Amino acid sequence: VIPQERNETRDRGVNVFLEQAARQFGTPVYVVDAETVAASAAEVEAAFPAPWLHQYSLKANDLPAVVSLLSERGWGANVVSSGEWSSARQADVPDTAVTCEGIGKSDAELAQAVQTAARQQPLRWLALESHAEAEQLDKAARAARLGDDGLPSLDVLLRLNPQVRPETTPGLAVGAANSKFGMHETEIMSFVSEQSRGRGLRVRGVHVHVGSDLGDVAAWASAGVQAVRLLGEISAFAGSADTVDFGGGFPLKAPGSPRPAEFHDALAASLAVERLPWPAVCAVEPGRYLVGSAGWLVSRVLHSRPRAPHAQQVVLDAGMTELIRPALYGSHHAVRALASGPAEERFDTAVEGPVCESTDSLGTHSLPRLRRGDLVAIEGAGAYAASFTSRYNGRPHPTEVMVWPDGSLQLCERPPVPGRDVQAPRSLAGAARPDG
Ligand SMILES: Cc1ncc(COP(=O)(O)O)c(C=O)c1O
Repeated sequence: VIPQERNETRDRGVNVFLEQAARQFGTPVYVVDAETVAASAAEVEAAFPAPWLHQYSLKANDLPAVVSLLSERGWGANVVSSGEWSSARQADVPDTAVTCEGIGKSDAELAQAVQTAARQQPLRWLALESHAEAEQLDKAARAARLGDDGLPSLDVLLRLNPQVRPETTPGLAVGAANSKFGMHETEIMSFVSEQSRGRGLRVRGVHVHVGSDLGDVAAWASAGVQAVRLLGEISAFAGSADTVDFGGGFPLKAPGSPRPAEFHDALAASLAVERLPWPAVCAVEPGRYLVGSAGWLVSRVLHSRPRAPHAQQVVLDAGMTELIRPALYGSHHAVRALASGPAEERFDTAVEGPVCESTDSLGTHSLPRLRRGDLVAIEGAGAYAASFTSRYNGRPHPTEVMVWPDGSLQLCERPPVPGRDVQAPRSLAGAARPDG
């Protein structure tokens, strides 16, 4: 469920700009409210005050306009691919404020990271997932002579798999021991104690992330304590180790959901119990919390009819290709009709997407009578929506719009996604045909 703190007056104000966006740019259209993003960022900044580093995880929404708004507040960018990195660059985030993580980095992406140090503008850090990745990066760093000839080394964190089961949907829990995410402590210590590494990489510390949309603070704090303890062990081998990046995971604001300050306080209390000091450099890298409730997907009704057991069934012009979360995780996003008044009669309504899959459904909602052409707003669509589209059924990426505090709407652009780093397959034309 995407819980919302309801506020009728705000909803009415929001409806005005959502309708305007649909009229001006057509549907489906994503709309992001800059003021709500800024307010959520301010809350995280207050919960984790400087000198905490704030890295925005672009995977939640890599729209350069969003990244640039956060960068102007002093946020760095946390990216998982050269595609996200180009959004950060389009938003003028300097490479020195970019952190790079990601479960499967290509040789080209590792080389791109090395190049930043070769140009004297090294990434803030790169988080390593495995020994194989570390070896490849080390090889590239040696070849570029990082750490020699006046060139800086590239700072790396080692991603810890904290072996915890966080309080969230199974699909969003990445900290379990058998997951593909991060290294176990033994793998990290064997990497750190290895003597054969060159000077091109400098071990700065530990990266940990237990999962997203956390319903409680316990697993987050427990993983944080493990990361800090491990940092102490690492620093016996690497004097440069002083950093823990505690990841993201804060859930959207809702009654009963822990707020960012509660995550900070739980970690502080757990470190105190364990008599562990705060690391010299601490970072968080949230995504969802900053943008989730700041975004809507505005869509038009294509059909409406009664269909048992529901009083009404509607098919929209937006669905799983624009908002995959219901099909992927069973998430429930609130849907509201933009033109309806509070007194209008409501019907139990099945809200469906236009894609040829029966899982393309937004579930049931209480909505007024709807007709073709009516506008609806899908809430909580600022995170993991526009950044998570697909072109299935030949569907294009919808338009994206920012609303600024003066009410103006800005049509936003994304950079093209860079090409894949794959060996070009031998062309069929050049291959010998069995029939000669
Ligand atoms: C390593 C890492 N950091 C940060 C995030 C951001 O999480 P959230 O959007 O829940 O804050 C994710 C999300 O998957 C992640 O995998």
